[in-house]
Amino acid sequence: MERKKGRFELQKMKESGRKMVWITAYDYWTAQFAEKVGVDMILVGDSLGMCVYGYESTLPVTMDQSILHCEAVRRAAPNTFVVGDMPFLSYQVNDDDAVRNAGRFFKEASVDAIKLEGGQRVCSRVRAIADAGMLVIGHIGLTPQSSGQLGGFKAQGRTAATAVELIKDARAIQEAGAFALLVEAVPPEVCGIIRDTLAIPVYGIGAGLQADGQLMIVSDVLGIFQAFTPKFVKRYANLGDEIVKALSSYSEDVRTGRFPESSHCYKMVEGELPKLMAALQVKDGAKTDG
Ligand code: KIV
Repeated sequence: MERKKGRFELQKMKESGRKMVWITAYDYWTAQFAEKVGVDMILVGDSLGMCVYGYESTLPVTMDQSILHCEAVRRAAPNTFVVGDMPFLSYQVNDDDAVRNAGRFFKEASVDAIKLEGGQRVCSRVRAIADAGMLVIGHIGLTPQSSGQLGGFKAQGRTAATAVELIKDARAIQEAGAFALLVEAVPPEVCGIIRDTLAIPVYGIGAGLQADGQLMIVSDVLGIFQAFTPKFVKRYANLGDEIVKALSSYSEDVRTGRFPESSHCYKMVEGELPKLMAALQVKDGAKTDG
């Protein structure tokens, strides 16, 4: 088992051009598999609201839900760099809230870093959390917690003017003390400029090959999330179809009496069944006689 990476190993990966592999996980079993294959980082994303709880957006996710899922992931992946994702309103109100809530991820779920969404407007939060000694990852571009303001789940930075704003956001987040940045749903050229501009690692989801590493949502990669599939997703399996097949076969077997088979049943200790029958007859007899 490879030793868990820290920020300096992640920084070295950027400098040596080795791509970082990042995937979301929300539960124990998925995180176990992620650690087994040796991904570099796991994000316990607030996408859990949509992928696990069936909400229409990430907005309803609470601190308590996020912590609970981080705890499960941490137990399953003790040797992987785990990132907790700060849910909506856990850091937007003020710096004090942001530090206290970020701290809960570290104290209660032993994460290695937290991620929060936004550019220049969240710099004081990033600064406050980093000044309290915690590792922070920024997240710019398509930021789902403000998708209403962005006009939906849409690509960002597609014009020169909006790309310039994104580059300013990226610089500001690095300046505020983040040790890495995630860029979501922007053209590859823009992500490439951001990567070349910043000293810290710049990871992408839907931002092309030039990023220092890639993040994907596990439910998309495995073909479990059914509501919609963003353009940037590549499916590596169709577990949704496999699950439907397996549950249909199970239902059919139960209804037709093909399950359980004798191999699924516990055997009585040799010679005990006749004794049981005899005991039941005596009892029945005693009842009739009485
Ligand atoms: O919550 C999450 O999984 C995320 C990704 C969409 C980047 O923040």
